[in-house]
Amino acid sequence: MAEEVKNKRVLQIGYGAFGEVHAEAWARAGLAAGSLLIADTDPRALARAQARFPGVHVATDGEAAMGDVDCVDILTPTDSHYRLACAAIAAGRDLFIEKPMTVHAWEALDLARRAREARIVLQGGLYYRQHPKALALKAEIAAGRFGALRLLTGRFAGIKRTRKDSGALHNDAVHFIDLFNWLTGERPRLVFALTRDHFGRGHDDLAILQLVYPSGTIASIETGYIQPGRWPDSVVPGAVTMKEIAVSGELAIAEIDFAAEVSSLRRGGHRWQEGAWRPDYGDPEPIAGAAASAPEVLAGHFRTFLDHVASREEPECSIIDCGYVPARIIEAAIQSARTGQAIWLDWS
Ligand SMILES: NC(=O)c1ccc[n+]([C@@H]2O[C@H](COP(=O)([O-])OP(=O)(O)OC[C@H]3O[C@@H](n4cnc5c(N)ncnc54)[C@H](O)[C@@H]3O)[C@@H](O)[C@H]2O)c1
Repeated sequence: MAEEVKNKRVLQIGYGAFGEVHAEAWARAGLAAGSLLIADTDPRALARAQARFPGVHVATDGEAAMGDVDCVDILTPTDSHYRLACAAIAAGRDLFIEKPMTVHAWEALDLARRAREARIVLQGGLYYRQHPKALALKAEIAAGRFGALRLLTGRFAGIKRTRKDSGALHNDAVHFIDLFNWLTGERPRLVFALTRDHFGRGHDDLAILQLVYPSGTIASIETGYIQPGRWPDSVVPGAVTMKEIAVSGELAIAEIDFAAEVSSLRRGGHRWQEGAWRPDYGDPEPIAGAAASAPEVLAGHFRTFLDHVASREEPECSIIDCGYVPARIIEAAIQSARTGQAIWLDWS
């Protein structure tokens, strides 16, 4: 990382449930002590930040504090991201936005235009793109060691509080929608979903989502707040959740339980033998990639962000790939659930 980047001043807007992870990740990413300013409209959140990070600078008005920094990190409730991002771009600040980057696809497109015109670096925070095991799995797929991908399944669900700002599709499924797009290197052309709003909030608390990619790969994602989870959630106190995926290719199959940091990869396939297709797979081996804490994974995002701030190049996790694309898929899922129809997506 370029030396001058360590001297950047960063404004983190929001110190809620995920706030401590971000602040710790900025330190791990190499930000100099004293270079982080935390803004939150809730003075109790700021008191928590100061107790956890003695000496950290704080402010209650995030927009006013933008004048004092070089970069802005937004992790407020999702429905406030667009407004705060517009303000940060207007102030000329390079910008990192937590997932989901925006609620609506049009907001992401508008931010992309504003960022381009203002020549600012704008990066998203789709967590799993920096998870060591997801990176190792992607490398295996990219090296052709899975052959053609056949099926990706994911469960990002468990017993968990609902959020005021969004449903499970925006809050949770977005992780695996992006992960599957990134692993396949494709954008789905067909989306079908079933959702339920058991709590009458106007947001889904259960969703079953199916995607079909142009190559023919199928993906299925289950999300929600009413399923039995498996492990204590690393972010939400009291929640019990599961964050696990399985990938089936013609040459290998794999699964990762991100919460338990457990993974397995089996090379092989089905072979025609004695009148039947019989499984012929090697023993399970762990997927490479060390176990990583949430602040360490996020620090990977921040290192990438600071590198792009220095080089002025567009990040891989751009507002288009990590913002517009998942938002459009979620809009299609909501439309599918409302109409009972599969929705075709044209990305041209
Ligand atoms: N990547 C991940 O694994 C992950 C995990 C948790 C949350 N998130 C995302 O991070 C964001 C925040 O989540 P959270 O769980 O910390 O939310 P939260 O609701 O617990 O906290 C949000 C904080 O923002 C503050 N806030 C609200 N509006 C503000 C404003 N205009 N200016 C300054 N402060 C304001 C609130 O007072 C609160 O302290 C969401 O977009 C969420 O989806 C990502």
